[in-house]
Formats: sequence, C-alpha cells, structure tokens
Amino acid sequence: MCGIVGYIGTQQAAPLIVSGLKRLEYRGYDSAGVCIISDSGLRIEKKAGRVAALEKFVDIDSLSGTVGVGHTRWATHGLPNDVNAHPHTDQSGSIALVHNGIIENYVTIKKKLLNAGYTFRSETDSEVLAVFIGMLYDQLNDVELAVRTALSEVEGTFGLVVVSTHEPDMIIAARRGSPLILGIGNGEYLVASDAAAVIAHTRQVVYLNENEMAILRRDGFTTKTIENVKTRSVVEEVSFELEQIEKGGFEHFMLKEIFEQPTTFHDGFRGRLQIEEGTVRLGGLTSVVDKLRAAKRIIITACGTSWHAALVGEYLIEHLARVPVEVEYASEFRYRNPIINSDDIVIAISQSGETADTLAAIREAQLKGATVLGMVNVVGSTIARETDAGVYLHAGPEIGVASTKAFTSQLCVLTQFALYLGRMRALSAEQGREIARELALIPEHIRTILRGADEVRRIAHEYSSVSNFLYLGRGFNFPAALEGALKLKEISYIHAEGYPAAEMKHGPIALIDDNMPVIFIAPKDEIYEKVLTNIQEVRARSGKVIAIADEEDEYIASIANHVIRIPRTLPMLTPILASIPLQLLAYYIAVERGCNVDMPRNLAKSVTVE
Ligand code: G6P
Repeated sequence: MCGIVGYIGTQQAAPLIVSGLKRLEYRGYDSAGVCIISDSGLRIEKKAGRVAALEKFVDIDSLSGTVGVGHTRWATHGLPNDVNAHPHTDQSGSIALVHNGIIENYVTIKKKLLNAGYTFRSETDSEVLAVFIGMLYDQLNDVELAVRTALSEVEGTFGLVVVSTHEPDMIIAARRGSPLILGIGNGEYLVASDAAAVIAHTRQVVYLNENEMAILRRDGFTTKTIENVKTRSVVEEVSFELEQIEKGGFEHFMLKEIFEQPTTFHDGFRGRLQIEEGTVRLGGLTSVVDKLRAAKRIIITACGTSWHAALVGEYLIEHLARVPVEVEYASEFRYRNPIINSDDIVIAISQSGETADTLAAIREAQLKGATVLGMVNVVGSTIARETDAGVYLHAGPEIGVASTKAFTSQLCVLTQFALYLGRMRALSAEQGREIARELALIPEHIRTILRGADEVRRIAHEYSSVSNFLYLGRGFNFPAALEGALKLKEISYIHAEGYPAAEMKHGPIALIDDNMPVIFIAPKDEIYEKVLTNIQEVRARSGKVIAIADEEDEYIASIANHVIRIPRTLPMLTPILASIPLQLLAYYIAVERGCNVDMPRNLAKSVTVE
C-alpha cells in the first residue's frame, strides 16, 4: 500500500530517499514526506499530493544528513492532507516513524495517552504509535526496547521504520503483515517496502519475515523477532533489472506493460510447456503432485483482477481436468468460516503476493488443513513464501496500478495448470498437444493484435465522453467481460459493468439506448450464434455495438458498429486475446479524458490493508 524508504550510510539521505519514493509511488500517492536526522535534530517535510509536490515545496538537497526515512501514503485513517502525511513524531519530536498498515487498537492506546496528557496533531493511527513509542522511551530510555514494547502491545499490521535523535546512527525496521526489504550496500543500508526502491543502489536484499525487526547501523545489521530472539537472515539477489521498472520510451507504464505481453506471456510458459508430450512441467508443484492427483476439489481465492483470472481458471480446470472448482473473493472467504477438507487444494492468485485479504484467506485455509498453492508474480513476496508450493507468473515488475500483463500471465499459468492436472487425469496426449501448440502461438497472436492498436484508439476517441459502458461475454469470455469493465472503471472513471451476455435481458437491457456502447466478446465458439442473438437485441434498442471477433468473421461486421479483430485460437484461450484490445480501449479512453492512467484516483497497486 504505502511506500517506505529508509537510508543509513555515508551519502546524503534525502535525494536518495526521494528518488526511491518516486519508484514506489504506485503503491500510494496521496501525500509524501521525509525525515532526515540533521545536526539540529529531526528535519521533517511532508506534503499532500504526489512526491513531485513535496519536491516543489522543499529543496530536497537542502535537507542535510546521512540517515532518514520517507513515505508515500495511501490514506486509511484521516484525509490525505499535510498533517496526516508521514513521518509522524512522538511528543518530544525526537522519534519519527513511517508506517504502512493499520493499528487496530489505536483508539484504546490513544485514550490511554490522552489521559496521560499527550496530545495529537493528526487523525492517524500511525501518530498514535509514534507517541506511544515516545512515552515508552521516556520510561525505558532505550529506543529499540521502546519500539519492541510498543509493537508487542499493538494489534494490527505494520511495516515500520523508526529513526531517532537519541540514536542518530541507527534505523529500526519492523514488519507484521506488511512487507519490508533491507537493501545491503557497502557501509550503507536501505530499507524499503518494495525492491523497486533499492535496486538502483544494490541488488542484495534481505526479506524481513513476519514479526521480525532489523536494527541497521552503518557497520552492520542484526535481525531479531519482535520478542527479541535473534534470527538468521538470508541475503538474496533481486531478480529484475532497473530498466524493467522504467518507462522505456512509453508514455505510461500501463501502455508499456500492455505492449510487453508477447514477451511476458512467453516467459510464463518458457521451459514449462512440453509440446511434444502435450503436457507441462511445473517444478514448483513437484512436492504436491500426490495431493494434486488426489484432489477432490479446488478453491481459488483472489481479489480484483486476479479474481477475474481465477474465474477463467475455474472454466479451464473444470473443462480440462474435470475437477470441481470454486472461486471465492478472498475478503469473503476469510470471514465466512469456509468448509475445507484436507483433500482440497486452495490456490491463491496474486500479482503482488501481498494483498492482505488473500494472505488472510490462505492462512485460514492452512489452518483448516488444505494444501495451499500460490500463483504469484512478485518473487519472495509473502504469499509466495507462505504457500506450500506454487508457480511464479514471471511477468516482471508491474508498475501501472491497473493490472494488464500480470492478468494475461495468470491466464497463461492457469491454462498450464489445468493442462497439467488434466493430463494426470483423463486428458489424452493428443488433446494436450493441441492445447500446448495453441498456447505457444499466443505471443504471436498478441503481437498481431497490438499492431492494430491504432484502430482501437480511433474507437476510443469516438466513445471517450460516454458515461456508461456494458461488457458482455459468455463461457470463457464472461470473466474477460468483467475484467474489461474493471479496466475501464479503474482508469477512466466511466461506469462500466460486465455481464454474462445472456443475463443482459434480466436487467441491463433496461439501460440500453442510443447512448450506450455495448462491447461483445464474440469469438466463433460453440455459443457464438447465441451471442449474435444478444447483439441483435442491443441493436434493436439502438445500442452501439463494439464486437471483438475472429479475423475471418465477415458476418459480424454487418450487425456491429465496430469490429476489433483477434486471431483464431482455441475457445479456452480467447479470453487472453480478447483482453488485449479491452486493455487498449480502457487505456486510450482514459488518456483522452486526461486521467492519470498509471495512478488512478483512490486506488493502490498493492492493497496490504483490509
Ligand atoms: C488492487 C489493485 C488491482 C489488483 C488487486 C489484487 O486492487 O489495484 O489491480 O487486481 O489489488 O491484487 P493482487 O496483487 O493480489 O493481484
């Protein structure tokens, strides 16, 4: 959610922290702030708005000091204004912290502090924690002990970095439910909520574990549990390159990520797909093969775009492996005491691997004895580490808040998983070969679609000022319709709904008039004719039809206002191809409307709070 960067070393901390914050802005961007330990005490500057607003407000280079922390916020408690921005300090102004997460019992702690005469400037739960640590410091005279004591009393989640003038050559970082990474340099250390902020300085990182904290000094660091038991840390290498988190000549990250899909999709099956054997090698699942063979049911849990991928996964797995699948919103699954048997497989799908609800859902499933698998993009993320086994998406870092390439990579991995499971069961080698062959052709098909981006841009231009959109699809493409509508909503703020095409007549048809564009995903599959009937029903009510159809479908042009072509493939793979023009359409419409495509209002890339 929020972005955190801390630094201790020999360089000027402020510019380094601010450039790290810019790389983390996709995690939250409603306010930003820094705190530097200067000769005269803590120097704190914070401002509502983007990091650029902070830079405009204060000359970052004038903040002198080699130890500090910074933060970009996604507001939970209190408006996104200057006062609520982080860092927050204790009463004396000698201890400052930045915090990602939610302190659930902050009201109780705040009451105690108010009774003891402490006062507060902001509406945030994070300031309560800062003041609490300050009060404990007054009693214990030890910053680390004060932090540990406070953290043992708080309920909720935190990724936390503390600096203090009492210990000007030390940074404390701690995590529970919110990721933190240490960047290991030479005589210098960084701490960040995301590897993107450290990679310009070092590729060597340590992922802090749950309930772990780190004490960083210029000459070394130690890790321990919040209960003060020493831990061993493993230094790992970041797996992506700096250029992967830069725009590379594209106007927006989202557009770059859309255009990366021929490569990222290919990376999702490279070394896995065994075309001649008609099967898939998924090394990450070797330890659970017996469980997969014996599985009676699969439950897939996820949020947002990943939940849409899960729905396609349900169709794929049931179709190819004939195993019953249920798809659950993670936020619902975690609280409804789900019935789980020990021969169930629970799969968590997540781009970030940090989504709080998805994480809680897998913990619930593990508690109830299920085998839990992860399909995750971010290497080393919490979900990747807490699941029993899994398959990485290999889509590379996704910076645009609206997920694009991670979605198609999720479909790539889900198709392979369904094929893998199917081949363990009734699917023949010949059937497997056909699917594998077609899957291997998808990157080329995506390239073909991307070559037609200008046509999608023209359609976007025509519809950029409408207020509503309807997206309809059937079978495998019902979830693709949901995802298309979500993309448009997220970045253009146009109201859009996705529906199974045949459901249109049970409600949405009432909305159709000559102002209503309706997108039909209509590849030539076994329900193609039915979809044509739905198109006619829209035309009969003067609705505008934009059809996504097969290259060689000549008929559809006679009944649709616009046709966007996708190459012919197996019906089960059409949602992958249909998603590409839908991403482009949402992108071009949002750009026409002047929206901030990469950082849409109110959203965040990685939702680490409930
Ligand atoms: C946020 C993002 C969405 C994403 C969802 C799930 O809402 O804005 O783009 O689909 O979280 O995230 P995950 O990282 O678990 O896939």
